[in-house]
Amino acid sequence: MFDLIVRNANLPDGRKGVDIGIQGGKIIAVEPNLQAQPREEIDASGRLVSPPFVDPHFHMDATLSLGLPRMNLSGTLLEGIALWGELRPIVTKEELVDRALRYCDLAVAQGLLFIRSHVDTSDPRLVTVEAMIEVREKVAPYIDLQLVAFPQDGYYRSPGAIDALNRALDMGVDIVGGIPHFERTMGEGTASVEALCRIAADRGLPVDMHCDETDDPLSRHIETLAAETIRFGLQGRVAGSHLTSMHSMDNYYVSKLIPLMAEAEINVIPNPLINIMLQGRHDTYPKRRGMTRVRELMDAGLNVSFGHDCVMDPWYSMGSGDMLEVGHMAIHVAQMAGIDDKKRIFDALTVNSAKTMGLEGYGLEKGCKADLVILQASDTLEALRLKPNRLAVIRRGKVIARSAPRIGELFLEGRPARIDGGLDYVPRY
Ligand code: FE2
Repeated sequence: MFDLIVRNANLPDGRKGVDIGIQGGKIIAVEPNLQAQPREEIDASGRLVSPPFVDPHFHMDATLSLGLPRMNLSGTLLEGIALWGELRPIVTKEELVDRALRYCDLAVAQGLLFIRSHVDTSDPRLVTVEAMIEVREKVAPYIDLQLVAFPQDGYYRSPGAIDALNRALDMGVDIVGGIPHFERTMGEGTASVEALCRIAADRGLPVDMHCDETDDPLSRHIETLAAETIRFGLQGRVAGSHLTSMHSMDNYYVSKLIPLMAEAEINVIPNPLINIMLQGRHDTYPKRRGMTRVRELMDAGLNVSFGHDCVMDPWYSMGSGDMLEVGHMAIHVAQMAGIDDKKRIFDALTVNSAKTMGLEGYGLEKGCKADLVILQASDTLEALRLKPNRLAVIRRGKVIARSAPRIGELFLEGRPARIDGGLDYVPRY
């Protein structure tokens, strides 16, 4: 007996009219015309049914704090860091938990059920860590939340950072973070990468560093991160977030760097919304885009997944928890507008990110956890174009969020009375 069957689904791989049978929180059948009487049935009506969105790079401790204690007037990364430094000593655990839970509500409504969040460990009180651990427990029934110990003010640059990071890991934070380009010197940045990879190896934890989030082509900490990954045997368990300096690097140097990154199986996490907003700030014109080399990295076989990074915080006043908005921007900034390009971008928001986060049982195959999203779109290309409503969000076989379809009404003589979310105008390709 099936608990639920989602009928007539279009899948991200292009299969159409598929039924998905769910029992005991798992997918146990994926086939056309599934002959069974389930307890509950949902007709997807030829809409796209995807595994949930996965955000591998976020800042849950800072989210929804826009305007506290003041606005970022320059809009730069560095003023954002300074502003967060003003808020951090006065923020309370209750405020942090409240804002994070509100963001998680938004995420669920958008079909975003897996999030890796960096947690700033710079304040010695570590209320950020206490708060995010509490949030991780509270949202566990509906969101898998991974936490990264992130020394925002620098591992060597900020007094007490080494001790605070280790205490955060002792408290149960899952992943070792870093910010080598923010250390005082290139040398200290290099040393921080080595020290943090050693901690990860000793503790048996993954690594996810903010790495080379700068337009300086000589910011080459990713080279050290890849080399230390190999030296400590951490292949496949290390992520380089941002890597924006690669945008500005010399092509010859990159031709040596990318194979090294591939050897180290580095997971690459660009953050398109933030990168296009914050990079190129020292340029007049021409002005660099500042996102890392997505197509080249994918072509070299590296696992590339996109992060949202920020929503309404000191660094970014926009955002809505919608990973399709992230993918939409990625298509533009990476100039990946072909049909196959867009399919790769959709994968970067789902299966690639799941690989980055090491998720088990993720996907739409038999045996996977019954987590899925029904979108008001017929396929992945349309989903990226329209950023459509999530008609149903299902976690372990249970509907945990619904949205009504977006319908526009027209009052024009001789024209249709309604437009179904823009779907009426889909070209056939
Ligand atoms: Fe970040």
